[in-house]
Amino acid sequence: MAGESSEPIVVAIDGPSGVGKSVAAERLARTLGFHFAQSGAMYRAVGWLVELHDVSPRDGNRIAALVAETAIDIALRPGQSAVCVHGREISEELAGEAVGKAASAVATLPVVRQTVTAQLRRLRCQGNLVMEGRDIGTVVFPDADVKFFLDASLDVRAWRRWQEMRQAGHGDTLEEVRQAIAERDEQDRTRTLAPLVPAADAHVIDTADFSIDDVVQTMVSGTQHNILRGNG
Ligand code: DC
Repeated sequence: MAGESSEPIVVAIDGPSGVGKSVAAERLARTLGFHFAQSGAMYRAVGWLVELHDVSPRDGNRIAALVAETAIDIALRPGQSAVCVHGREISEELAGEAVGKAASAVATLPVVRQTVTAQLRRLRCQGNLVMEGRDIGTVVFPDADVKFFLDASLDVRAWRRWQEMRQAGHGDTLEEVRQAIAERDEQDRTRTLAPLVPAADAHVIDTADFSIDDVVQTMVSGTQHNILRGNG
């Protein structure tokens, strides 16, 4: 439990694609002075490798071999987490919906989930941690000190993602973005292993009507409250 020992504190943040988890988690980590890790980046790295080697995302045996022979690591740095393959940072290659789609597909495979989950758990040794993803509060750190689940309707998330993409110069239509997010949602929510679902003890925050500042502030207060309660 929070504050009962000198174990590092873990804040778990889960939620669907496009809900703004990464920005909110990164800002929460910065405010609290905690490390920050995007677990999706590990799945994206596997999805990227699978595409690079032209392997089908359903070919479990070849993907198992690929994962076994490749050193994929998350390096925790102040305010950000970087993904490295054989020591080379590949964070920039991991952006975008094509890699997100490949990541969602490989994330259904037991061998990928086991490997990534084990690596994510090891990050706790490095100090207090905010980690975001899909199964952080349910599977990776079911004993996390504080859990949040950020949510918003598909329309709200698609609109936000589309705006971001337009600002970054991408030409996808709103409907294309909506469709891509809907497909990923479906796959992430319905897979057998570690599906996207709020932990029973997560604070669920509907972000639709709140600014990012409000969401971060709610999480800062919630985290401080839980930690203080643990200490008391
Ligand atoms: O958070 P993201 O969009 O970068 O994640 C990409 C995909 O990785 C996501 O669609 C499903 C998978 N993922 C997962 O299965 N479990 C996690 N904890 C994080 C991501």
